[in-house]
Amino acid sequence: MERVTPRRSFLKLAWIAIGIAALGETLWVVASFLKPRSLAPKSEGRLVVAGPSDAFAAGSVTAFPAGKFYLVRLADGGFLALHRQCTHLGCSVPWDEASGRFKCPCHASVFDLRGEVLSPPAPRPLDIFPVRIENGIVKVDVSAPIRRSAFDASQVTRS
Ligand code: FES
Repeated sequence: MERVTPRRSFLKLAWIAIGIAALGETLWVVASFLKPRSLAPKSEGRLVVAGPSDAFAAGSVTAFPAGKFYLVRLADGGFLALHRQCTHLGCSVPWDEASGRFKCPCHASVFDLRGEVLSPPAPRPLDIFPVRIENGIVKVDVSAPIRRSAFDASQVTRS
């Protein structure tokens, strides 16, 4: 008759524990692989609720630092959301209220109220974010800036 030593039974228990852990890990990997992925489009992204449209005066520029954009209300009442990142080398572009322009501190590019280049080296206008107005509330989708080669009236959102 074979005698089981305490050392042998400990090793046997250790092997059983390792086997259970390996099986659990395998099941977790398989379950993760088989789990259905979300089919929601990525473009839903992040939405910034800017506020009621009548809270923004015509000709105003309002900074939204968290969303990295300026909400511009043009003289005709339309809205543009301008990405604050310079299209030259990516510096943050501040709004200069005194001159009514965006002036990049890095290499002196200047942009007008619509984000168009007034003074290079910036190669193109400031990027924009989609704006929509729902029940009088302005919302900006900041998931991905949109490149543009020039200002176009179709970029403006009206209430
Ligand atoms: S990064 Fe703005 S002008 Fe160069």
